[in-house]
Amino acid sequence: MFTLAHLSDPHLGPIPAPAWRALLNKRFTGYLNWQRKRRFIHNMDVLDALVADLAARKPAHISCTGDLLNIGLASECPLAHAFLARLGAPDDVSLVPGNHDAYVAESVRLFTRQFAPYMTSDAGRFEGFPFVRLRGPIALIGLSSGVPTLPFSARGTLGREQRQRLEQILRFLGSQNLARVIMIHHPPHEGGAGFGRGLTDAVGFESALEREGAELVIHGHNHVTSVAHLKGPRGLIPVVGVPSASAAGGTPSHRAGYHLFDFDMTEQGISVSARQIAFGEQGVNESPLDLDTRYSG
Ligand SMILES: [Fe+2]
Repeated sequence: MFTLAHLSDPHLGPIPAPAWRALLNKRFTGYLNWQRKRRFIHNMDVLDALVADLAARKPAHISCTGDLLNIGLASECPLAHAFLARLGAPDDVSLVPGNHDAYVAESVRLFTRQFAPYMTSDAGRFEGFPFVRLRGPIALIGLSSGVPTLPFSARGTLGREQRQRLEQILRFLGSQNLARVIMIHHPPHEGGAGFGRGLTDAVGFESALEREGAELVIHGHNHVTSVAHLKGPRGLIPVVGVPSASAAGGTPSHRAGYHLFDFDMTEQGISVSARQIAFGEQGVNESPLDLDTRYSG
């Protein structure tokens, strides 16, 4: 069995006090939002406990779907480096950026430069997105939906080029007897996020999957567990959202958690089942997560 752990949206804090010049853009509203609200939700003690629990289970690989930073500042990067190093070596941890990692244009360049080792393809170089990493029975395909947007917008976009490359990759990997696992920050299906928060080219993503298929899509961004399905050529593809890895406040469904996906080789091919590990007020709770893949095959 091969176990893949998925966590997302740690929103690492506290944000080091920024120079006023760094706030003369969208970061101004983002910083106020952190000071007034987010710093009370994202609790680093909760994150510590979650990472310790995850490490003790020794998954074969870890996927993190972004929003490590909050307002895309260079001074936030040391926290992200320390967090990733705790998860594991770059070969064992795969990362894609979220909208908070691509907060303004310079954040995109910064994030890519700083964290490239976690986003390289198997050729060992960072070659942009999608990247592909083969690990045991799975092929991890990392997408970047993080693009700078206007204040109060948390939208994401893949763009035509990335969608076309994704389709070619899915087609090639489809004949390799591997489970194709797509990592993306935004929920990639239509209606997957609230107004101003979704993927602008969800329709294009859906068509690519409908033509070429995938075995699993994992995402963050909404800070709750969710299971949706997209149409593939051979049945429904599970699309699974994970809570924030550091959330302490909010409703019980918004409390911190992570997911474990177990891949098994069977005579019919590769099967996948999932578990959710939730960090509520009563402590850590593990329960099965129904992917409802009975229509695929
Ligand atoms: Fe996000």
